[in-house]
Amino acid sequence: MQKWFEDAKLGIFIHYGIYAVDGVAESWSFYNGRMTYDDYMKQLDGFTASQFNAEAWADLIEQSGAKYAVLTTKHHDGVALWDTQYSDLNTVKSTPAHRDIVREYSDAITAKGLKLGLYYSLIDWSHPDYPSVYEGGKVPEDKASVNKYSYPVNGIQDEAKWSQFLEFNNHQLEELLTGYGQVDLLWFDGDWERSAEQWNLPAFKHYLKSLQPDVIINSRLAGHGDYKTPEQGLPITRPEGPWEFCTTINTSWGYVPTDQHYKSLHQIVRMFCDCISMGGNMLLGIGPREDGNIDDRQEAILLGLGKWIRAHEEAVYGTREGIMSRYYGEGSTLSADRKTLYLFVHGDPKGSICLKGLCNKIKKASVLHSGKELTYEIHGGVPWFQIPGTTWIHLTHEDTHELTTVVKLEFDEEVEMYGGSGAVVTHN
Ligand code: GLC
Repeated sequence: MQKWFEDAKLGIFIHYGIYAVDGVAESWSFYNGRMTYDDYMKQLDGFTASQFNAEAWADLIEQSGAKYAVLTTKHHDGVALWDTQYSDLNTVKSTPAHRDIVREYSDAITAKGLKLGLYYSLIDWSHPDYPSVYEGGKVPEDKASVNKYSYPVNGIQDEAKWSQFLEFNNHQLEELLTGYGQVDLLWFDGDWERSAEQWNLPAFKHYLKSLQPDVIINSRLAGHGDYKTPEQGLPITRPEGPWEFCTTINTSWGYVPTDQHYKSLHQIVRMFCDCISMGGNMLLGIGPREDGNIDDRQEAILLGLGKWIRAHEEAVYGTREGIMSRYYGEGSTLSADRKTLYLFVHGDPKGSICLKGLCNKIKKASVLHSGKELTYEIHGGVPWFQIPGTTWIHLTHEDTHELTTVVKLEFDEEVEMYGGSGAVVTHN
């Protein structure tokens, strides 16, 4: 895993596509029969990108505190946002926008010094060769439930067509991986409709790496990815290895004006703290309007998150997973040298916060955003049995940040935590 990814903590996920024209769910709205395929594709005629300004996007992303961005270059609907030579279904040839969105986006992101991520759907529900085989080659017993966009409806598989599709896929990916400069992250989606063997793995991955040796690939590559991608529901147990939690700000990936169910800024900050406390990144979704503008509420969340991050940078970038929540319940991170512990305080502390199991002596306790030094007291503990007491760090309402407060604890040594079950004190 590249170090930049684990140090970055925040990325912005952009679902931009023709689905923003009518404000419907990306691709799934025709797949699930909520609208016809033809009606869905009519949105091509309304995709203008008339206000699309990639520099403004890059600027907002930088201000959000994110270190990387991921754009949907092609969703499951098969509509490419770049000038692909392998299908007319793209924004240059088939929409009034006539623009290579990927080109403008990648130039602007790279120019800002942000890492460049490209989302690419392995599923292509518009390609005539795609619904040619079943997952793992197994013909289902109940053919009535087969979705025609994914699989052959008559039970007959066509391996030759599938090979053609793989070739098409390789061509499109070659365009993306050779025509847009350094691609730092390839964010696949939709691997689940075929097996690893059908995706021609691991050879497929070797092919991708031969085009961009340093590219990181997310987990959605039938078990061959570099990191995990839990989605929408925060993990409770830390996922193994490197990971990134992707989430929407309201409940939709793309621009859906009827979706008013927005998370608050404090909730987003808290979710972000939860991710970094468990050593993960957060990939926060925005869904621009068809004209390229971003909804004010989404913009406000990005700016608010960025402001919070800037006031707490050292507790965020380059940190490592914090101490377990049984020691401190609201989440924490550790500096890379493990000599500084950052505790997140999301609510009103009511006079003090409680840290259990700390073995080290605190050199200094302070509030990160103000620098104010804090006092603390220790209650209990049996030092001669190496059982630490409970540390109560004094923190009043006046000390807190308007969102999440960070308490910084500095030590001379690496932080060490007690893991035992306590003991009966047999001598005093
Ligand atoms: C799911 C959906 C897709 C969305 C993605 C984002 O896989 O299929 O619509 O783009 O999640 O993580």
